[in-house]
Amino acid sequence: VPSIFTRMTDLARRCDAINLAQGVPDFGPPPELIDAARRAVDGEAHQYPPSAGSSALREAVACHAREVYGIEYDPDEVTITAGATEGLWSSVFALVEPGDEAVVIEPAYELYPACIAAAGATVKYVTTEPPEFRLDLQAVREAVGPKTRLLIVNTPANPSGACLGRSDIKAIGEIAEAAGAVVISDETYEHIYFDRASHVPVAADDLCRTRTVTVSSISKTFSATGWRIGWTLAPRALTERIRNVHQFVVFSATAPLQEAVAEMLQVSIAGDYFDRLRRDYEARRGAIKRALERAGLDPLLPDGAYFALAQVAGDDVDYCYRLIEESRVAALPVSSFFHRPTPERGLVRFAFCKRLETLEEAGDRLSGESAGRIPK
Ligand SMILES: Cc1ncc(COP(=O)(O)O)c(C=O)c1O
Repeated sequence: VPSIFTRMTDLARRCDAINLAQGVPDFGPPPELIDAARRAVDGEAHQYPPSAGSSALREAVACHAREVYGIEYDPDEVTITAGATEGLWSSVFALVEPGDEAVVIEPAYELYPACIAAAGATVKYVTTEPPEFRLDLQAVREAVGPKTRLLIVNTPANPSGACLGRSDIKAIGEIAEAAGAVVISDETYEHIYFDRASHVPVAADDLCRTRTVTVSSISKTFSATGWRIGWTLAPRALTERIRNVHQFVVFSATAPLQEAVAEMLQVSIAGDYFDRLRRDYEARRGAIKRALERAGLDPLLPDGAYFALAQVAGDDVDYCYRLIEESRVAALPVSSFFHRPTPERGLVRFAFCKRLETLEEAGDRLSGESAGRIPK
């Protein structure tokens, strides 16, 4: 079945709508990354790189963890993957067997239940609710049982924007340890957060460090969703299991792009790229707020990631279909991120990884000042 992302994106294209449904930037990567890629393509890296990833990139990823977060990883604990998607997929396949259970916090990125099911395991859901999507740790304890092998968390989270704090992370580590389970922490949006001093990686907690697979990628950090470069960071024994799957899934990520990303990561660690990215996203978050308010909506602004949510009257799926047809703006129904779709929640997700002029035009269309009118 095509995912709701695919269906909304197809309809958006047919209706010539502004696509705020898909979390794809409508701007390019930083010029330094493009330059580095040009140099890499002119260089030597054209044949299979090591399956685990080029040593330059594994070192850069370990350096990033050390310099940005103060977490020590050996490059042998880093595996370069084809985006976070493959990192998640290979990790889940490495860590669960048919009949096992995995705990997922919802609303959840739809990849998690899909790969857990494909690996033959069962998902146990812990539901969080708007507006704060606060994690109920008691509900996590109750979801864990003797068959639990995995807890998947996502911070900052898609679609809720919720960020885990240190006390939640500490509790998750204790719950995982008591269950003998591993934590997979999807930190794809690690550099996009608001109104807080820093992102808190799950592995910053000492107990979690020993039993966590952190997954991230360049998709959001370097606005390069099409490059398909990501990574996992995990203790050696877990890394070995992940690499055993990864070698038979894609063998490796693209060789020259790994070299370019290694360079860009080092430049970013030494310079102010991450701060500039965050400032740009603050401006975009302000622009989506104004756009939704002009349309008479009351947006819930995220603590992290790049999605604003808005409560609408009635069924969120119907609303999104009507929004495309009547206002020519595409958004996503948040009910599709829950295992039991509850369209009556009436919550809609607007991706704001777009140029300011795109967000302004979306505001014009949503408020009826440009062709289109927001559904009542
Ligand atoms: C929470 C989350 N994890 C992972 C991914 C996939 O990332 P990648 O492009 O690195 O495969 C996405 C993409 O939207 C995401 O939202």
